Amino acid sequence: MARALAVSAAARRRSSPNPWVGCVVVSASGEVVGEGATEPPGGRHAEAVALDAAGERARGGTAYVTLEPCPHVGRTPPCTSRLIEAGLARVVVALPDPDEQVAGAGIGLLEQAGVEVVTGVGGEKAAEWLAPYLTHRRSGRPLVVLKLALTLDGRLAAPDGSSKWITGEEARADAQELRADSDAVLVGAGTARADDPRLTARLADGETVRQPLRVVLGRAPAGARLRPALELSGDLGGVLDELGRRGILQLLVEGGGAVAGQFHRRRLVDRYVFYLAPALLGGDDGRPAFAGPGVATMAEAWRGEIVSLRRLGPDLRLDLLPAPLAAGGGLLTLQ
Ligand SMILES: NC(=O)c1ccc[n+]([C@@H]2O[C@H](COP(=O)([O-])OP(=O)(O)OC[C@H]3O[C@@H](n4cnc5c(N)ncnc54)[C@H](OP(=O)(O)O)[C@@H]3O)[C@@H](O)[C@H]2O)c1
Repeated sequence: MARALAVSAAARRRSSPNPWVGCVVVSASGEVVGEGATEPPGGRHAEAVALDAAGERARGGTAYVTLEPCPHVGRTPPCTSRLIEAGLARVVVALPDPDEQVAGAGIGLLEQAGVEVVTGVGGEKAAEWLAPYLTHRRSGRPLVVLKLALTLDGRLAAPDGSSKWITGEEARADAQELRADSDAVLVGAGTARADDPRLTARLADGETVRQPLRVVLGRAPAGARLRPALELSGDLGGVLDELGRRGILQLLVEGGGAVAGQFHRRRLVDRYVFYLAPALLGGDDGRPAFAGPGVATMAEAWRGEIVSLRRLGPDLRLDLLPAPLAAGGGLLTLQ
């Protein structure tokens, strides 16, 4: 299963809105005879890729799959049929698929056909890795990652509104990777006006990636570099519902302070990513990370759990999860 999870990494940035699944087929004699990851939408699922590679050698063997195989005809034939026709003796599944078209039916069909099914192997890791997909299928909304670059005294811009650049090159390159992992990137109209960001994913190694949908809360100025962009307004719950309907599994919120404050106060952030620079603005007139009223007293402070801490050149990247989620297993990146 560890191998199947590693194989699935190849699909992380190309399968959405389908899940990035990995599959490894092992023959009856214990040899790895096929492996594969989900192809881009319309292409083969991981099971089909692995079975195509294995051919007849799959008969009597075991397939390790990171997510429950689909039982329905979509753009591709059902994976359950492929697994049954291949004559596998056993299918090991890391995680049940909450999608209403699957939800146990995949495992049921395999068992009815006499295939032994083992579930839960590597389930925790698979759940972390597939968190955006699982969040989307369970709630209809994307997983929300809030990313901010901050001085050590918690400011995201100087009093004059300038924020270029708080962090160094390594941290900014890392933030591009976050964009590449996201289906959509959102900023407020204030940031569109102040910074005129492009919001495209530009990777340091020049790799071409599928570009995220660009989203602005409010109206983007005419001629803004982030155009064409989707402009959304109003209640953030409705905004997330709309993005979910559009198949956005992971939303990266990049500020500014007014938008960060709204998402935070509504408890809509699933993961906080702070890039912290060894810089101080040294007063109380810089722009705070979260604009608007905070809690009144220390006992009410929001508390999370640090799940990752990395040094990026002169800066630090700190990943936090809200405490209840962290207690439930967390959303660590697969490393
Ligand atoms: N360090 C960092 O990581 C970072 C990241 C981003 C930005 N920044 C800095 O942050 C500053 C900008 O932040 P900001 O707080 O002024 O602006 P902002 O949060 O980017 O945008 C706020 C504006 O967005 C619109 N808006 C927000 N929520 C909305 C909703 N639910 N429906 C409709 N419209 C909505 C409103 O636009 P209208 O005003 O048009 O009504 C609102 O004034 C700049 O100085 C920028 O450099 C820093």
